[in-house]
Amino acid sequence: MKSLIKVGNKFPKVKLFENNPGNAVDTESLLKGKKVIVFGVPGAFTPGCSKTHLPGYIADYQKFKSKGVDSIICVSVNDPFVMEAWGKVNNVGDKIKMLADTNGELTRELGVEYDLSEKLGNKRMKRFSMVCEDGTVKVFNLEPEGGGLTCSLSNNLLIFI
Ligand code: BEZ
Repeated sequence: MKSLIKVGNKFPKVKLFENNPGNAVDTESLLKGKKVIVFGVPGAFTPGCSKTHLPGYIADYQKFKSKGVDSIICVSVNDPFVMEAWGKVNNVGDKIKMLADTNGELTRELGVEYDLSEKLGNKRMKRFSMVCEDGTVKVFNLEPEGGGLTCSLSNNLLIFI
């Protein structure tokens, strides 16, 4: 695992997957020239992520847009079909891009591995929120216990934008 990403670093250039494994999207293109929120979660459909984390970003979508945010990305170590289904169940529509870090490459590059092998079967991603401007990390909130629900919530990120 790489060292933990910091404010001022470039966001890693990796491929993520949207809706199906044949649809790779690269992070460099997603972030280039834009103000983008990226938030990471330990797993689609897990209780904290489904009841609190994702819904907060959906509810605050207009507030983020009015602060100049171009797009919001939710990412997790899951397969892209699961991420798509999770987005549909939560009616994310076009508000949030639901991307899969299928093989955990982004997780390792960011230095946010969270070993949930016993509970969820593999290494997942710690919960975090981030604002990137033109591919550079400007704000980074990482939950201290990996899975907590405090600093990475949308209402906290709104303070920083
Ligand atoms: C979490 O959200 O941190 C979590 C969810 C399920 C199992 C373990 C952790």
